[in-house]
Amino acid sequence: MGPPWYSNTYFCDEEQEPRMSGKRAYWSTRFGFYLAAIGSACGLGNLWRFPFVVEENGGGAFVLIYLLAALTVGLPLLISELMLGKRARKSLIAAALELVNGKSKYSAIITRSAVLLTLVVFSYYAVISGWVVYFLAQFTAGSISQSDSSVNTMFSVLMENGLLQLMLVSAHLLICAVVVSKSIQEGLEKWVSYIMPVFAVLLIFLLVRAASLNSFGSAARFLFYPDFSKLTMASLGHALGHVFFTLSIGFGSMVTFGSYLKEADHIPTAGFRVTVADGLLSLVSALLIFSVVMQSASNHQDTGLLFETLPMFLLQMPGGWFFGVAFFLCLYAAALGASIGLLEVIVSNFMDQKKWSRSYATWFVISIAFLVSFLPALSSSVFKNVQIAGYDLLSFVDAILINWLLPIIVLGVGTIIVKGMSIESQKGLFVDVNRIESASLFGHWRYMVVIVAPLIIALALLLQLFDLVFKNGVL
Ligand code: PHE
Repeated sequence: MGPPWYSNTYFCDEEQEPRMSGKRAYWSTRFGFYLAAIGSACGLGNLWRFPFVVEENGGGAFVLIYLLAALTVGLPLLISELMLGKRARKSLIAAALELVNGKSKYSAIITRSAVLLTLVVFSYYAVISGWVVYFLAQFTAGSISQSDSSVNTMFSVLMENGLLQLMLVSAHLLICAVVVSKSIQEGLEKWVSYIMPVFAVLLIFLLVRAASLNSFGSAARFLFYPDFSKLTMASLGHALGHVFFTLSIGFGSMVTFGSYLKEADHIPTAGFRVTVADGLLSLVSALLIFSVVMQSASNHQDTGLLFETLPMFLLQMPGGWFFGVAFFLCLYAAALGASIGLLEVIVSNFMDQKKWSRSYATWFVISIAFLVSFLPALSSSVFKNVQIAGYDLLSFVDAILINWLLPIIVLGVGTIIVKGMSIESQKGLFVDVNRIESASLFGHWRYMVVIVAPLIIALALLLQLFDLVFKNGVL
């Protein structure tokens, strides 16, 4: 049994819906789609990745660019992916190949790369999810105390112990495998739908508490006062990469979710709501984390930012133990929701392409992901001396995938959708006859996806390249 809005009777199965391929089902309540799409979008990207990328890029000016990029590039492309999914009711590769009648080599390469990218992202995401499991376990066992050194020691113990990290990754992968092999309706949405609303309330509560810290004002200023001198040439690329990552664009994930939308659902509205919810979550978590960081005046940064700062803040609250457990439980639910979104993409593509059963495809993907996760999981122990362009292995994998490969793949997938679908069918999917404004918005949307988005992505990649070549800067 799930919450009131969740019930198996809300799903249409294959017998009732012959157009669907594989084991595809979709929700008859609109709420169900939002829970799933927001569950996939909101995750470690918002709480773990956004704050350290903002820190790396100097604060307010970057946040502004990020928000503009989300609305002008992210949202239009998110809408395209939802359109493709709703039309084809298939996973990314099958849907894209159908668009080009299976003829284009280019489409096959792009979509296969998207699935490969998703597999690698899923694997390193599992490493960070493992860190969350570790903190959850420490809080639950009560083995973390209210001193800076306790939290720091805990985190460095984790970083130095590669075997422990691999065990945590395995635990997370096993949970994902069980959920996904049980199929969409029982797995994907139920878990996240229980916890995400609670997480939103908890974060707002924590933010209200953080507002009483002396550092709250400086954190707000750091995040919202744009100082453009802090930007580097790579900042636009970092902003775009993060927009795609956090909105789950370019992975085929939103194509899969689009296939669960009902006929009457208005795609642009759905895309807009997902973008706003995701953006708000990122801003709230960044404000919370920077208030805490600036309070302690110590210099935390990089991928450990969230884990090195928030536990102390939670512990210092009355009932700190309870809040610690609640926070990491919710964070794990968010990580799991996103992980399942990632895994679902890979699995449903294998099901569509190779006609494998759901459980065979799931276990196959999980085994590969486990092997791939070795590099990031051991990056701070066995491979701790490996530094590439100033990055450790985990940060390097993150930067290469998100700042470089993802924008290229997004550009490719976007082109396939916009070129492959006739303007008539795009219009049919975009425009809602009951909303007069949607007809005029269609022209704007086309302009954004055909001209503005490709130009901005190309510019961002070019600037990153300059940064790399001339300043020997970060990736
Ligand atoms: N958007 C998720 C996050 O921000 C990551 C993700 C990407 C999930 C792609 C699913 C698909 O954490």
